Amino acid sequence: MLVSATEMLKKAKEGHYAVGQFNINNLEWTKSVLATAQELNSPVILGVSEGAGKYMTGFKTVAAMVKAMIEEMNITVPVALHLDHGTYDGCYKCIKAGFSSIMFDGSHYPIEENVEKTKELVKVAHAMGLSIEAEVGSIGGEEDGVVGMGECADPDECKAIADLGIDFLAAGIGNIHGKYPENWQGLSFETLDAIQQKTGDMPLVLHGGTGIPADMIKKAIDLGVAKINVNTECQLSFAAATREYVEAGKDQQGKGFDPRKLLAPGAEAIKATVKEKMELFGSVGKA
Ligand code: 13P
Repeated sequence: MLVSATEMLKKAKEGHYAVGQFNINNLEWTKSVLATAQELNSPVILGVSEGAGKYMTGFKTVAAMVKAMIEEMNITVPVALHLDHGTYDGCYKCIKAGFSSIMFDGSHYPIEENVEKTKELVKVAHAMGLSIEAEVGSIGGEEDGVVGMGECADPDECKAIADLGIDFLAAGIGNIHGKYPENWQGLSFETLDAIQQKTGDMPLVLHGGTGIPADMIKKAIDLGVAKINVNTECQLSFAAATREYVEAGKDQQGKGFDPRKLLAPGAEAIKATVKEKMELFGSVGKA
C-alpha cells in the first residue's frame, strides 16, 4: 500500500522504534526491499536520490515501477516512496510524478531561505497528500553529488523549521553518508537530546545509517529518532555477493550469465541487510 510517511513515523516515535528508509537504484533493489518488508510485516520507506532518479530515467518511471510492484507483488504493508535530499525543483517533479513523500534539503541555504522554501513546499506537499522532511545542519560526506560538511544542527533552527508544519526532521548530529572514517567521533547525543527537547513530538531522522554501531542506533531511537536512512550498506552487500559469484566463475557455468541468475545473489544480499536493519530498528511486525 503506497502511503505518505506521516502516520508510520508518528506511530514509530510513539512506539520507540524506527522505520528504515532504504535507497533504491533499480528493479532488483526495489523488489528486494519490498519483499523483505512484506515478509517481516514492517512499514518501509523507499528512498530515491535525485541521482538515482535520473539513473532510472526519471521520477515518473520510478513512481510507476513502485506502484506496479506493490500491486503485482501484493504488498500490503505501508510503503512510502520518498525523495531523498531533494532540491526545490526536484521536490516539484516528485510531487507531479506521484511520489508519496519528499525531502527538501535546504540545509545549504541561509536559515531564512531554508525556512521560506520549506514553508512553501509544506503547503504544496500537504495539499497533495504527501509527507515532507526538511533538514537543518548537514550530513557529512557525499551521496550522489550532495556534499555536506557534517556540522551539528542548531536546536533553535531545528525548532524554527519544525514549526513550519513539516512531518519529520533531519538534523545533523555528526552523522556521515557512506562509510565512517576510522577517526569518527561518534554521534553527538547532546545535540540530539537538545533538538528533541525543542521539537517535542516531531519524528527525527538519522541519515548515514551505514556503519553506525547498534548501541548508538538504539540510543538515537531512545532520543527521538523514528526514521533511519540506509543506502551504502545495501550497495556494499550487493557488490560483495556479486563479486563472489563472478570470482567463483559461476557466470561461466551453464546459463550463469543470465541476468536473472547473475543478479540473484546480490538481490538476496540486499534482503539480508534490510532484514538485519529492520530487526535492529524494531520495525518488524509494526505494519
Ligand atoms: P548511508 O549511505 O551512509 O547509508 O546514508 C544513507 C542516507 O542517509 C540517505 O540519505
